[in-house]
Amino acid sequence: MTGQRIICKSEELLEKGKGVRFSLPELGERVTAFAVRFNGVAYAYINQCAHLPVELDWNEGDFFTRELDYLICATHGAQYEPHTGYCVVGPCQGKRLRPLIVDEHNGVISITLNES
Ligand code: FES
Repeated sequence: MTGQRIICKSEELLEKGKGVRFSLPELGERVTAFAVRFNGVAYAYINQCAHLPVELDWNEGDFFTRELDYLICATHGAQYEPHTGYCVVGPCQGKRLRPLIVDEHNGVISITLNES
């Protein structure tokens, strides 16, 4: 089954700003995800660190490092490339966040779920 979900308006997702969190009941009761904008492009990932199954943001929506160049897990500081989800430093170095398919069209950001 495939489903498209609207996440937010384009204007709500600011460049290297707060991430927009959303739940994904399609993938499990407690599964959450988030969208961020980096270099003008919207990206979305399952909100679960590749190290341990915890959400990345202690403060809701805070996903970027202080330098605004990587996404960071608040628990042990793993840092991920915002555009690939690849972990460049931290206990899960070399692993990845689980990406979602993002579409931005007519001022709206949506994701497409490919469920099997
Ligand atoms: S739980 Fe994210 S770095 Fe350990």
